[in-house]
Amino acid sequence: MCGIVGYIGQNDTKEILLKGLEKLEYRGYDSAGIAVMNENGVHVFKEKGRIAVLREAVDSTLASSVGIGHTRWATHGVPSKVNAHPHQSESERFTLVHNGVIENYSRLKREYLPDVELKSETDTEVVVQLLEGFVNDGMEIEEAFRHTLSLLKGSYAIALLDKENKETIYVAKSKSPLLVGLGDNFNVVASDAMAMLQVTDQYVEIMDKEIVLVSEQSVTIKNLKGEVIERAPYTAELDASDIEKGTYPHYMLKEIDEQPLVIRKIIQQYQDENGKLTIADDIVDAVNSADRIYIIAAGTSYHAGLVGKQFIEKMAKVPVEVHVASEFSYNMPLLSENPLFVFISQSGETADSRSVLVQIKEHGYKSLTITNVPGSTLSREADYTLLLHAGPEIAVASTKAYTAQLAVLSILGAVAAEARGIASEFDLSQELGIIANGMEVLCDAKEEMEQIARDFLSTTRNCFFIGRAVDYYVGLEGALKLKEISYIQAEGFAGGELKHGTIALIEEGTPIIALATQEHVNLSIRGNVKEVVARGANPCIISMKGLEEEDDAYVLPVVHELLTPLVAVIPLQLISYYAALHRDCDVDKPRNLAKSVTVE
Ligand code: M6R
Repeated sequence: MCGIVGYIGQNDTKEILLKGLEKLEYRGYDSAGIAVMNENGVHVFKEKGRIAVLREAVDSTLASSVGIGHTRWATHGVPSKVNAHPHQSESERFTLVHNGVIENYSRLKREYLPDVELKSETDTEVVVQLLEGFVNDGMEIEEAFRHTLSLLKGSYAIALLDKENKETIYVAKSKSPLLVGLGDNFNVVASDAMAMLQVTDQYVEIMDKEIVLVSEQSVTIKNLKGEVIERAPYTAELDASDIEKGTYPHYMLKEIDEQPLVIRKIIQQYQDENGKLTIADDIVDAVNSADRIYIIAAGTSYHAGLVGKQFIEKMAKVPVEVHVASEFSYNMPLLSENPLFVFISQSGETADSRSVLVQIKEHGYKSLTITNVPGSTLSREADYTLLLHAGPEIAVASTKAYTAQLAVLSILGAVAAEARGIASEFDLSQELGIIANGMEVLCDAKEEMEQIARDFLSTTRNCFFIGRAVDYYVGLEGALKLKEISYIQAEGFAGGELKHGTIALIEEGTPIIALATQEHVNLSIRGNVKEVVARGANPCIISMKGLEEEDDAYVLPVVHELLTPLVAVIPLQLISYYAALHRDCDVDKPRNLAKSVTVE
């Protein structure tokens, strides 16, 4: 979602900001802008659409040593030049960019700014106008900033310029992510480290409700009372080459191809010196002392949770419930006496999940975050973290993070089982190795997958995924992948549920992608396929070797039956990729979507 960058130093500010915004493109946005300040004042450039359009609009001769930039994902007001950030106060003294949602902006406008005519439809503009109002009333800038923040309800990450103090960027956050990056004779602000990796790998975390004064030579963090807080920087362990596409046409394809490597890396990262899979004792104790695990997640991570439940219950015999984060807060089930909450989130920043974490922490419940981003909000705020080690995932459609989540959940299940004295029926390291090899075979089958996409999806307006048992959950993920990048209406169903309603939708030629990787339900799912074929459907069956039948569209390499989702999902990712490509869709940045969903 919205992304923020800021720079103060002697280099080409506008170029650093634009490059930073390009690195944040993956988060999803619909307009962008920068503001740079020099002796002649503040110069604001903003445009609807891509950064490339903004780049064209920026005066390339403009010199400046301080500026802020923003990519906007519309929440309040349509995507447009006027609603794009930065926003300025009435006198144009203050210029501000914001990520998050100010829930009480209408009330603030009514109460404090009855006579101010807002230029945009955004919640953000209220913040900058409020601030100017308090300064006009006689407050010093820092006090006015703090006072403004104290009135905001909702979430925010803010970077602010003051025309009368060109030596400082004022920064604050609450619930939305924001970091300060440190350099030699310059400092930066960024929604995530990737944006500014071009200039620094040294970052300082900002905590909620702090304000930070960023100047060329210093970074001063203050708490609500104005007391200075010391905090050591950390090194962002990101390899700049990880966030480049290389020779790939799209990040999504690159990330699909990286999956075998990621699985091997996970095996390595979770092995001890004797090659035994291991997880920190306190995490295993937390799992094993819980009477029930509550997995909280959204989107693809939720689908990983559904499969993870199978792993943990079957291996460690601990009961698991899986919940959609956005529903959990107000739809909380009756909790068990000693629950453990497991948050699954690629980005570690998903606001819906974070809101549950805040809520359950108030009750004193223990929490574990499984994430790809060390230092992310969900990681920092949970009691424990397990990392995915998948490397940055840039495409909005999650692929390698999903299989990494499954691999880490399987390890959690296996290690917890062992600690409970439950003998394993298989060697998980070895099975994950077999999976990595199988994934390679699948990644090499791109031509077949492209053909399947052509045969089944070129002209269709909808597509159904069916499966039974764990295949049902993989079908849900396949449907999400297809709909989010190709805009084909796609839904996943449990094979047995079709006859209870969905079968009414089957028409001549409706594509049905059926998964058949589970021996105990193979005949039943094939029966479901027959039912839809009898009503005109065009079936594409993806089966596991050993269970295949003559007309199956693709046969997966054999892996352990419990772990089939790790391979079965790959054809679905590739088919979705090619279906989107054939429809000329923007594969990496699908419409209306954001990579990091930082508003509730
Ligand atoms: O970063 P998270 O894993 O918490 O994100 C959750 C969802 O927003 C995410 O998985 C989304 O569904 C993906 N775009 C799906 O590909």
